[in-house]
Amino acid sequence: MKRRHDVPHVNLRIERWHRHLVYGVVLLLTGSGLAWLLAHYFMRRFGEFGETIHPLEPLSMKLHGAAAMAMLFIAGSVMNSHIRRAFRAGRNLMQGWLLLVSLVLLTLSGYGLWYLANEESR
Ligand code: HEM
Repeated sequence: MKRRHDVPHVNLRIERWHRHLVYGVVLLLTGSGLAWLLAHYFMRRFGEFGETIHPLEPLSMKLHGAAAMAMLFIAGSVMNSHIRRAFRAGRNLMQGWLLLVSLVLLTLSGYGLWYLANEESR
């Protein structure tokens, strides 16, 4: 049986341009999600026709939807070269699984909001 220290050291470091792309998309995704929360819960306006939404609310969701697509593209781009090889090498298993499961759950909840939810279940 192969023990952990018998496994040859594999270089799992993602190239700089690729890493920066991952950081950028994660930042845009998280930032736009938080911006929506902020606009939705704290920036409602009261105009002459009653409560209205802040323009940041639809804008942040448009950005968020685009960033979600980019996120799946980026996640796919490191699936084989980084994720699969790291799992096989048994490195950072806990953080890796946590990240992957979080991404899957957020993607499923995003899918649900797009295709399954109605105003009530939202
Ligand atoms: C930390 C990261 C994230 C935060 C803070 C976040 C936050 C949010 C929030 C607040 C909403 C609006 C919920 C509502 O309409 O009631 C939302 C919607 C959504 N999220 Fe995220 N999200 C994150 C990550 C993701 C990921 C990883 C994906 C998929 C790759 C994703 C895809 C979506 C989609 C598709 C929607 C529905 C958009 C729409 O209704 O037009 N999100 N997110």
